Amino acid sequence: MLLSARSIAKGETNIIAKMANFCALIQSEFHFWWTGFYLVDNAMRQLIVGPFQGPLACMRIEYGKGVCGSAWKAQKTIVVPDVKKFPGHIACSEESKSEIVVPVFSGAEIIAVLDIDSDQLSTFDEIDQTYLEDLVRLLA
Ligand code: SME
Repeated sequence: MLLSARSIAKGETNIIAKMANFCALIQSEFHFWWTGFYLVDNAMRQLIVGPFQGPLACMRIEYGKGVCGSAWKAQKTIVVPDVKKFPGHIACSEESKSEIVVPVFSGAEIIAVLDIDSDQLSTFDEIDQTYLEDLVRLLA
């Protein structure tokens, strides 16, 4: 998958275009419940939904709220084996059972997060984390 991601990223400067095709790439390989990006709006102190694949999603998430807002605040990846056990989890869909949220950095600043939801428990581990962190590095 990283090889395909590299070829998507190569020569493309538009981050939204890359995000859109990264979502398509992840979904075509893994068929998760939902894969998408939330973009940081610093003025509003919110995340705003960006390119995604899957069912309708929450459009805005406050800083520090939910898994996405928490990963933004903590400035690190959060792996959630069971969303029901994550305090403040935002349920955009009842089908979502586990989740991983990976911050996208531009230098030292977080500009977006990648959020992947699974309809199975405990879908994501440290190996997914490592691969996805490598993947999002291709965006900046
Ligand atoms: N569950 C996320 C919200 C986004 S949706 O899953 C697409 C959260 O708690 O931040």
